[in-house]
Amino acid sequence: MTNIPKRIVQISDIHLFADKDNELLGVNTYQSFHALLDLLKSATTQPDIILLTGDLSQDHSQKAYEYVVEAFNAFAIPTYYVPGNHDDIPFMQSTLPSATIFNTKHILLDPFQLILLDSQKTKAVEGYLARTQLDFLEDCLKKHPEHHAILAFHHQPVSVGATWLDKIGLQNADELWAILAQYPNSHTILFGHVHQEFQTKKNGINCFSTPSTCVQFKRNSVDFALEKLPPAYRWIDLYSDGTLKTGVCRAAHYVGVFEIEAKGY
Ligand SMILES: [Fe+2]
Repeated sequence: MTNIPKRIVQISDIHLFADKDNELLGVNTYQSFHALLDLLKSATTQPDIILLTGDLSQDHSQKAYEYVVEAFNAFAIPTYYVPGNHDDIPFMQSTLPSATIFNTKHILLDPFQLILLDSQKTKAVEGYLARTQLDFLEDCLKKHPEHHAILAFHHQPVSVGATWLDKIGLQNADELWAILAQYPNSHTILFGHVHQEFQTKKNGINCFSTPSTCVQFKRNSVDFALEKLPPAYRWIDLYSDGTLKTGVCRAAHYVGVFEIEAKGY
């Protein structure tokens, strides 16, 4: 019997502009994104699924989503997405569903299930899971008790140890944790937003973040600060016996000029 895992690749916080020449804090986000895609293309193991965890656009432009479609249609791998605080949901919904990018929010990957939630709070940087999202989550957990649940959304539901970022995480994380405590199939949470690699375990549930494809926020920093680390993606391997392995792959080089004095974005 083979035990070849299903591989999810999580890509987050792309922050594309309509103008491909624009930079975010010294980084051309289009070039940095493509440096990461080149890394993914060259990987020995290709993913079965690509998961985009928000902040695909920096300037709320439709063009940004068109670049995302171009990039992932070329991969021809089923791709799913959730919005971040920077995303324009109407543009996202009208542009992204395409040949290989799907708006599906519940995916069965025996013996796992992937549940995608929208944590965007209107006109806010911090996140919030609306009642409809929590109900959807609970429904999936209830209907598929034998499937280990992997949740994905943009905002972090745990402290990542960086004071300024912890203030802008998921504001009603307590409600989420209260629901998850009732369902033993709650397994893993994947998120973006924090632009850094982070992992912890809370109430027996794995929590993993994925670095950005552009600028990285400095770990354990009290105030906003950048860290000179190249763009990265996270891979998550799901085994048929219910085990999960994960890690982060980084491009070889920082793309752009590192703005050590940057005070915000
Ligand atoms: Fe972001």
